[in-house]
Amino acid sequence: MGEEHNIAVIPGDLNGITVTNAAIKVSGALAGLLTKPLKHTTFNYNADYFLEKKITELGKAELDELKKFDQIFLGAIGDPTKIKPGILEVGILLKLRQEFDQYVNLRPVVLPEGVPSILVGKTSEDINFEICRENSEGLYVDDGRVENQGTEDEVGIQIMKCSYKGVKRLADFAVERAIARKKGDKPVVHFVFKTNVLRFAGAPWVRVFDEMKTREDVDIKYLHIDNFLMQMLINPKQFDVVITENMFGDIATDAGAVIQGGIGSAVSGNINPTGTFPSMFEPIHGTAPDKWYELDKNGMCVPNTFVEEKLQEVKPEAAFMSYAMMLEQMGETKAAGALKEAALNNIRNKNYKEMKLDELVENAISFIKNYK
Ligand code: IPM
Ligand code: MN
Repeated sequence: MGEEHNIAVIPGDLNGITVTNAAIKVSGALAGLLTKPLKHTTFNYNADYFLEKKITELGKAELDELKKFDQIFLGAIGDPTKIKPGILEVGILLKLRQEFDQYVNLRPVVLPEGVPSILVGKTSEDINFEICRENSEGLYVDDGRVENQGTEDEVGIQIMKCSYKGVKRLADFAVERAIARKKGDKPVVHFVFKTNVLRFAGAPWVRVFDEMKTREDVDIKYLHIDNFLMQMLINPKQFDVVITENMFGDIATDAGAVIQGGIGSAVSGNINPTGTFPSMFEPIHGTAPDKWYELDKNGMCVPNTFVEEKLQEVKPEAAFMSYAMMLEQMGETKAAGALKEAALNNIRNKNYKEMKLDELVENAISFIKNYK
């Protein structure tokens, strides 16, 4: 361990850059709460970089560079006016998650006290669980083929790969997490899949479930993904830690974000629990091109435009809280708490919707300076 926390920062594109700048600026106020200083090194891996280098994914040189860091902070990637959606997502996000074996995508679904949920009558008592999305395999291994392309017999085949080791290590992580959370009398881990239909990919899920269900210290339960989504809306209180396949987790966590106060406050940690590679922290939201570019009469982004005033509409709280999650992972509990509370303090402000970006940043900084 060095004298500093060495953090690689990938702001990404458009408002990924806006929220990253905001988070870095606010992190400057944390100095007195840290055990050692934060050192940020920026990497402009984004649409422009891919165009300039004529690449479709990060290569060995970029990965070797990033590997040296303790952690990675990522804003958001994607600029539809420059690169067709899909390339950067696979070439940066999925690439890093897989190459750095960040096999847990930790996505808390926690409604903060005093923040309304769209679920009528539900409060922070009801909505407080974590989804551990499998983050290195499943349907997102980017494997498959298109047969007979362009003919009437065209068929697209996408592979969902679930390994025994992959499910087992995720389940082990979830069990530890549930024990540490101390939510109820007994920790609960739900396995979520679709084992009735997806019999092949589901086999390792059933096997790990069967091996674990006899544990006495943790309640191990199972739900199909469709039922889970329904239960998440009807009775979220029953959940503590949930594990699920990559795509199921992708979908479920967007819905989870909405019930915990909106996608603008949802955070995500791509975690390599073994520490062999850096983990990566990012807000769940995207780059919000509509809050960057001029829009034409059909609501489409006009390339090569930039409307500075729109940046003030961007909310940086999910980036603050992702940064806080990163601090927590680094053992900087006090600074993490301060930053998270600063974000929540903004979100709870009765004028939050109308508040401008600069104001939110300034508020967060002064909150942290007065934090005890
Ligand atoms: C997310 C995003 C990504 C994913 C996309 C952009 C590849 O939707 O982090 O949830 O599907 O994992
Ligand atoms: Mn998603």
